[in-house]
Amino acid sequence: MRIGILTSGGDCPGLNAVIRSVVHRGVTEHGDDILGFEDGFKGLLERRYRPLDLNSVSGILQRGGTILGAARVERARLREAADRTGELMTELALDALIPIGGEGTLTAARMLSDAGMPVVGVPKTIDNDISATDVTFGFDTAVGVATEAIDRLKTTAESHQRVMVVEVMGRHAGWIALQSGMAGGGHAILIPERPFRVDDICEMINARFARGKKFAVVVVAEGAHPAPGDMPYETGVIDKYGHERFVGIGNHLATELERRLGKEAKPVILGHVQRGGTPTPYDRALATRFGWHAVEAVHKGAYGMMTALHGTEIVLVPLAEAVSRMKTVPPERCLEAESVF
Ligand code: F6P
Repeated sequence: MRIGILTSGGDCPGLNAVIRSVVHRGVTEHGDDILGFEDGFKGLLERRYRPLDLNSVSGILQRGGTILGAARVERARLREAADRTGELMTELALDALIPIGGEGTLTAARMLSDAGMPVVGVPKTIDNDISATDVTFGFDTAVGVATEAIDRLKTTAESHQRVMVVEVMGRHAGWIALQSGMAGGGHAILIPERPFRVDDICEMINARFARGKKFAVVVVAEGAHPAPGDMPYETGVIDKYGHERFVGIGNHLATELERRLGKEAKPVILGHVQRGGTPTPYDRALATRFGWHAVEAVHKGAYGMMTALHGTEIVLVPLAEAVSRMKTVPPERCLEAESVF
């Protein structure tokens, strides 16, 4: 078969492991021709692709980023691709497409699938917010980076008797904040699912200082926000890809904590550091399994589906189910984290 593969949306550690796995399984087991589209759906629309053989994926398992390039694409352009699905498939002589991406990419994949394109999606995001799969690759790596940062910040915070506000990624779901905050022993964990009150954080920090602990680390997801009227804070603006761009909760919160507490509070924005670099062994293994199962799904004709992790098994779920809602942090998970405050 002639199978196209693309990596779309933001990059994520483990993308190369999927590409490698698709090529290995497709070429060695099924004799497939694998075409790699460059820069996600842009490459598909602009007919920019290259053949991928075993040599072209050699040595990429542990590499961060994506050898194919990734890009966000406006919804209107994706609609254009969906409308021209038949034409594209015939022109490129493609039998199937494996798009690897987050919510936006999987929504586009569903659109293409509904328009008749034989598609099998593979989920990725460091945010871990895609429903229908227990975990996405990239998350474990991001949590590792954030946890290491929290560990490091604790020693310098303690030396200077400071409050550190660590802003991690997570626009709509606080998984990275929750997991790294728990693993690193953050003293407050603020997530989009649960609006916070600055006075509650101040109370906790003052209690710590009163107990003789002269520092604190607050872990805040980029999409976390104060309860209405609690502290001045503007919500983000929506960019041309339909994503909310935030104004920097970490900076705002550090300023407000310093003002209310009368103690030094420093913001640390981890940003894209969480998305870069080598994937953890867990992410490499999960990405490899997703790639393997995506090729098998193509050969079974299981189109309109997405690979997913359920427990320890890789299963196929409808793309429609995966994009129907976002996987957010359940409130009881916050209670587990709070026990470490
Ligand atoms: O979706 C993953 C994510 O890492 C978000 O947490 C973050 O807001 C966003 O991507 C940033 O993406 P970019 O700056 O690449 O557009």
